[in-house]
Parts: sequence; C-alpha cells; structure tokens
Amino acid sequence: MSGRVVLAYSGGLDTSVAARTLREERGLDVVAAFVDLGQPFDAEAVRDRAAAAGAKLHVIDAKEEFAEGFCLPAIHANALYEGKYPLVSALARPLIAAKVVDVARQAGAGFVAHGCTGKGNDQVRFEATFAALAPDLGVIAPVREAALSREQAIEIAARYGIPVATEAKTYSIDENLWGRTAETGPLEDPWAEPPADAFGITADAREAPDEPAEVVVGFEAGRPVALDGEPLPLTALIARLAAVGGAHGFGRVDMIENRLVGIKSREVYEVPGALALILAHGDLEDLTLERDLAHEKAGLERRWAEGCYYGQWYGPLHAALRSFMAEAQRDVTGEVRLRFFKGSCTVVGRRSPRALYDVSLATYDGTADRFDHTQAAGFVALWSLPLKTWAARDRAGGAGGTGGGSGGAGVTGGSGRAGGA
Ligand code: ARG
Repeated sequence: MSGRVVLAYSGGLDTSVAARTLREERGLDVVAAFVDLGQPFDAEAVRDRAAAAGAKLHVIDAKEEFAEGFCLPAIHANALYEGKYPLVSALARPLIAAKVVDVARQAGAGFVAHGCTGKGNDQVRFEATFAALAPDLGVIAPVREAALSREQAIEIAARYGIPVATEAKTYSIDENLWGRTAETGPLEDPWAEPPADAFGITADAREAPDEPAEVVVGFEAGRPVALDGEPLPLTALIARLAAVGGAHGFGRVDMIENRLVGIKSREVYEVPGALALILAHGDLEDLTLERDLAHEKAGLERRWAEGCYYGQWYGPLHAALRSFMAEAQRDVTGEVRLRFFKGSCTVVGRRSPRALYDVSLATYDGTADRFDHTQAAGFVALWSLPLKTWAARDRAGGAGGTGGGSGGAGVTGGSGRAGGA
C-alpha cells in the first residue's frame, strides 16, 4: 500500500495539526483535500496552513454539485431530521468523503483520513462513505485517536509554525450553502438561551425590519428555479433566499438532538434558505400531489432524513428513497408566495398549472358547485358499513350473550372452572 494519505481538510486548527502529525508520526505523504461547499473561507490562509502542515493542497469547488446532488434531493424529500434539522452537515459529509476518495484515486493514495472526534455523527458519515465507495483504502482518524485538548493542538501548531487563530474558540461551527451549525461552549446548557455570538447568518428577530418581505419562489418539477420571476441557478437561489430570510430573523433552530452515537446534544442551527425552500416546496406538493402519494411520501421523508443523518447516503435504501422522491416531483410545478416577518416565514399564496385543487369541487357556493352531493350519501353509507356491522354485533353480544360465538366460549369456560368457582 502506498504511504500516501488524503485528508479531508477544513483549514482549521484540528485538521492542520492532523495533517502534520500524519506526516511526522506515521511518515505518510499527506494530501489535504479542501472541499468548498459554500462556507466562508480565506483561501490564502488555507494555503498557508496546509503548507506549514507539510501537506499538498487540493481545493475542490463542489458548490454546484452540492446544490444539485444533495440540497435538491433534500428539497424533494422535505428533509428534516427529527422534524427540525435540515441536515446541513449530514448532506455535506458524503460529498466531502467522495471527493477525498476521488483525490485518493488520482494521487494513488492507500489511505484516507478525516478530522472528526469520536463523539459526533460526522465520523460515521465519513467512514460509512469510505466503506461504500472505497473499501480497499485504509482509514485513519487522527483527531479521534489523539484526542488532543485545544491547548495541546495549539502547542503542536506553534511547534511547526502553522499559522492558526489561537484566541479562545467558543463554539464548534460547521457551515455550507445549506446553513450553519453551532455546538458546544455556552450552548451545552440546554436551559441557557443561545448568546448572540452563537449566530452568524441570521438577525435577531427583535431587530428585524418592521416591514415584511415577500418572495415568490418558482418551482419546476420540484426544482426551485426562480425568485420573483427571475430565473436563478440553484446555488444563487438558495443563497439569495437565505439572505432575505436571515435578514428578517427567520431560520433559527434551537433543538435537543439524538446523535447516532447515542448522545443527546444541544444544537443551534441557522437555516433560513433550507427551511424556506422546504416550506414552500411542501406547500406546493400539498397543492399538486395526489392524496395517497402525499401520505405515503410523508412517511418515507422521515426515513430519508434518518438515512442521511446516519451516513447511509451511498447505500441502496437511500438511493431507492431518492428515486421515489424524484418520481414524485413530476407535477410539483408552480409558484409559492412567502412572507418573511420578524422571525417567521409564512406561505401566503400558491398556484400551479398542475394543481389538483379544484375550486368547483371545493366551493361552498351553491351555484358554482360541481360536486355531486347525491353520491355522498352512498359513499358515506358504504364507508361506515364495517363500523355499523361491528357495532351491531357487539351490541347484540353484549346485551343477550346468546350469539353463536359467545355461547361456545361460555360452555368451555363453565366446564373448565367448575371446581374453582
Ligand atoms: N449535529 C449536526 C449533525 O450531526 C451538526 C454537526 C456539526 N459538525 C461539526 N463538525 N461541527 O449533522
């Protein structure tokens, strides 16, 4: 096996130290793969740190692939883990891991590595993806293995002249096009309200504008294609909607979450774009999906979100669920009007050329009504027939106790228990 490793590199302290120790302690030739998924970053700083860490840097722009291949399917599935979390990190890890594998193939590496600790979900997502895509490669988890304190990591960085920020770090942050996550520090007390500095991309609703903003989101077959009639590529559309929603204080989620490794954790998310798109998309589905498809889909959406959260993106169940969701999108075409105001996002209108809503069936205006009321009586009678039959039997059985079934039971019971009574 080649003595080369490709490390998923964030450009931060932990992965920089990991890169250096992989080289110093294991004698590996280290390639750092930095995957741009729309997180803010200083390209020069990333380059300098990778160099000081002794790693060859690959920067991969995967923003569009992330939007098309991961965020779009998540919109189709209205994907929210535990009904609240739009899977910001969970969607990103399989793509980052896949890019690491690509680089490993190009570089002829025998190992892949990630900088996750042993307590989180991300280690699972990386390694499950490596298992699915590259079972032949060795996997190294240097951060999990070394379990360094922040002070120790800073000391190692200083020893090798790796230029990292050394001021106290309050939160553990992850960010991409789909949103921003914050954990640890003062957030570990679930009773304490998140401090203002835990947030990065949304305004405090109390300080949001006094005038609401309305945005019309256009969809074609489940894909958001336009804002206020202006066609936009998906990455730009997500970012722009997030900016509008965030400015109005929308998109903050404060939740207690069940991690895959069995820990409950307090999480603070900022997901204005993701939540607004899921809200709008789900509403358009309400207008356009046939009832039984809509009901069945809702159950599978939960499974979809769990599979993604659990790192099973490249497994066969998740692929099949994605196909189901994509198939369900055929008629999800139309427009949804959203209103952002002081931390809320409300659907205030929707329309579709593929709507199943039929006002001539729904109306209570007698003259316009096309619904055949005479059919309702027969439908209701047959619908109620099983209940009527059941109720009649039990009423008869309970009153007389002389029905065929209960009579038999009575005989057996009587003979068996005669002595004891
Ligand atoms: N709890 C979230 C998840 O499991 C967020 C994880 C954030 N990851 C991170 N390395 N800070 O998806």
